[in-house]
Amino acid sequence: MIFVNFKTYKEGTGEKAVKLAKICQEAAKESGIEIIAVVQAADIFRMASKISLPVWVQYVDDIAFGPNTGQVLPETVLAAGARGTILNHSEKKLPIQVIGSTIARCQNLGLKTLVCAESVEEAKEVVEFKPDFLAYEPPEFIGSRTTSVSTAKPEIIKDFVKKIKDIPILVGAGVHSQEDVRIAIKLGAVGILVATDVILAKEPKQELLDLAGGFK
Ligand code: G3P
Repeated sequence: MIFVNFKTYKEGTGEKAVKLAKICQEAAKESGIEIIAVVQAADIFRMASKISLPVWVQYVDDIAFGPNTGQVLPETVLAAGARGTILNHSEKKLPIQVIGSTIARCQNLGLKTLVCAESVEEAKEVVEFKPDFLAYEPPEFIGSRTTSVSTAKPEIIKDFVKKIKDIPILVGAGVHSQEDVRIAIKLGAVGILVATDVILAKEPKQELLDLAGGFK
């Protein structure tokens, strides 16, 4: 599977986010690989009537209905059409207890969770809370178009897969080629998280089809 994180790139915001999600949808259909669009909270609802692809949000807060000005209520994104959320992305780190309580909130609501970790040690703390997916993302390669997690840290991917049992592992950071995907899958990951290579591509669909080829 491929999680495409739209982040807050202009190319992945507002109506452009809908356009990009449609492209993801076409690429998923053509390649037979599951693609998930991970968009900003404010863009979830505009996807609902136009996109059949699974849409996730980039973050939710561990809050309930009530006085929480400016925060992201899990119930709202769920009602707007989100099927899951990323937590603890290196651009939005959370204390371990907050990761745990937010996963529990999401589990109660039926919102899936993908938690990012920068090391096996961090991942081991997170697995206790049983997220649906765990992603290994070394922050130093995020946004790189030359070096990826697959080529720079293959031994750590291997270690993740060996030490984190029962939770599907994804990898992300600098993923930009079919070979990056092939290495990750060969080492035991079930998929990738990608942003720059797809969001900023001249031909995002071609890029996605190229990455999808790495699963074959
Ligand atoms: O969540 C995915 C992300 O952090 C990887 O970003 O730009 O290196 O593909 P990028």
